[in-house]
Amino acid sequence: MPRIFSGIQPSGELHIGNYLGAVRNWVGLQHEFESFICIVNYHAITQPFEPVDLMRRTHEMAVSLLAAGIDPGVATLFVQSHVPEHTELAWLLNTITPLGELERQTQFKDKASRQESVPAGLLNYPVLQAADILLYHADIVPVGEDQIQHLELSREIARRWNARFAEGYFPEPQPKLTPTRRIMGLDGNAKMSKSLGNTVALLEPTAAIWEKLRPAMTDPARVRKTDPGNPDVCNIYQLHKAFSPEATQVHVAAQCRSAGWGCIECKRVLADSMEVELVPIRARAVELAAHPQRVTDALGDGASRARSVARTTIDEVRERMGIA
Ligand code: TRP
Repeated sequence: MPRIFSGIQPSGELHIGNYLGAVRNWVGLQHEFESFICIVNYHAITQPFEPVDLMRRTHEMAVSLLAAGIDPGVATLFVQSHVPEHTELAWLLNTITPLGELERQTQFKDKASRQESVPAGLLNYPVLQAADILLYHADIVPVGEDQIQHLELSREIARRWNARFAEGYFPEPQPKLTPTRRIMGLDGNAKMSKSLGNTVALLEPTAAIWEKLRPAMTDPARVRKTDPGNPDVCNIYQLHKAFSPEATQVHVAAQCRSAGWGCIECKRVLADSMEVELVPIRARAVELAAHPQRVTDALGDGASRARSVARTTIDEVRERMGIA
């Protein structure tokens, strides 16, 4: 079975943008691939954070992932810091990574330009990401488009290390893009993102979801109910494409183009489709909140499985590098 690795920052509760953009894909892939899913808390500390929050958000992320359907009996779900080999390999890879490549990363340039003092960890972030992946000899990395450049660098690092120390040792990991295009926020202005406050949380109750959907932006050119709309530019229709069955999508699009329905009717149908998928997820989350030990146990198990693979890699890498 080919192996996949993916990581997610411990941002706390998942929102439906994260869910559709990554997690739902992993849930499907876990049966086809040997899967390693990692909550990357060492990546999270490259940005401002509060220690107590970080601890809570790490646990919440684990709850969300398990509730979303990551099955700890099938996939290896773990927290990055529970497997110290990640930082160890990151250091070893840092020594062969050209500074220029790191400075060229658009995510680094973006984040660095928004702060006065730039920590070195932010620059080295993609090296840690390469270590995450290479530690498990992962073949495939299911991610969103925004990670393509980081993945390219991971391949470059693998090639360099192989060329210098052991030809063919690390496979060059390939990205596998999430089928769902990136999800816009409910304001229709930007990508769904916690910091912009335009999200729907994965575990949000029915009534709260409706309170957000009701005023949400649709086709900006559709002012009156009698104006025909264009589903292709509609924020709500993108969610239909993610949550509604094919037949519903077709029906909704036709009603929109002919001005048969107003946006509210369309949103009601969406809310129903979302319920179908989200109700069982919420139920699992309630169950896990009542039994936090189950979450801790799952992560403990995951860490020990991950660690046995990681240990072997580190031993081999150290040996090839002449580090006793
Ligand atoms: N940088 C990724 C993100 O922000 C998270 C991540 C860390 C990751 N390590 C990884 C993703 C390894 C894939 C593989 O989404």
